[in-house]
Amino acid sequence: MNVLVTWRIPDTGIRLLEEQFNVTVYQGNAPLNGSSLVQQLEGMDGVLAIFHNRFTREVIEQLTTVKVIANMAVGYDNIDVAAATEKGICVTNTPGVLTEATADLAWALLLAVTRRVVEGDQVMRQDRFKGWDPLYMLGTELYGKTIGIVGMGRIGTAVARRSKGWDMTILFTSRTPKPEVETALGARRVDFTTLLQEADIISVHTPLTEETYHLFDRKAFQTMRKTAYLINTARGPVVDEEALVEALKSGKIAGAGLDVFEREPLAHPGLKVLPNVVMTPHIGSATHETRNRMAEMAARNLIDCLQGKRPAALVNPEVWNKTN
Ligand code: DGY
Repeated sequence: MNVLVTWRIPDTGIRLLEEQFNVTVYQGNAPLNGSSLVQQLEGMDGVLAIFHNRFTREVIEQLTTVKVIANMAVGYDNIDVAAATEKGICVTNTPGVLTEATADLAWALLLAVTRRVVEGDQVMRQDRFKGWDPLYMLGTELYGKTIGIVGMGRIGTAVARRSKGWDMTILFTSRTPKPEVETALGARRVDFTTLLQEADIISVHTPLTEETYHLFDRKAFQTMRKTAYLINTARGPVVDEEALVEALKSGKIAGAGLDVFEREPLAHPGLKVLPNVVMTPHIGSATHETRNRMAEMAARNLIDCLQGKRPAALVNPEVWNKTN
């Protein structure tokens, strides 16, 4: 069987695939999308894809041989799952293996923005430090504050666990009750408005769906505390970037730590000039260990699908149940 890997990925994944299939690794410099993606997938039985390949309904409807799209990501908003399901194509993802790395980055951003780490680094590099001063470069302390976690899945829970080390009060929103998290971490499930009103820090961990698109809009920023910070390591479009820039500029909120952006790879120009923003280029899962595990998991999902074994992380089990 033939499989396409749409981008360079860690060898761990490629080696697994090569033991079973004829593997083509796309070597282009721009992400495959639209008609180029369809063209490259001609005659392929499976595809190991990454986040920047958009499997729209239009693309999926033109696929004639592909039986599985194995996404090397936990999020799969780049794939029209309903269209894939109609077409009988399995969609898989990589949950679990990137939880701790992403939670670490959320905390890195949180500490960086509240303690002005990046600003301080720039001062030192530019020889602008004039000596210790009691009123110089004051930040915000996290100890004992309230963190609000939007989406208490695996990553949200891992962020909450870390917050216990700072003796924080933990609030969260979630579609379903999480009694185990409430018991283990003393966290409290609240409605979105309460979270906005009470949290000193808000960390976003919800998938991007029609319901969560622009969840953080002008009204949300208006409701947040003026002293609050927003951290987003989930998906850019959950936040209306235009409204965020306005909120940061006008002091409606204190700052933001962002790893994801509404129009990746671009960040809103307004964000780049604000000192109370720390940005990283979508590196939540970017550790050697985690990226190896993601590549391996995506490859195993793909192999299992093509060899008739139910994969560990199947997004659309309906397809499997119908064909197996
Ligand atoms: C994920 O796994 O969803 C990461 O954001 C990488 O796309």
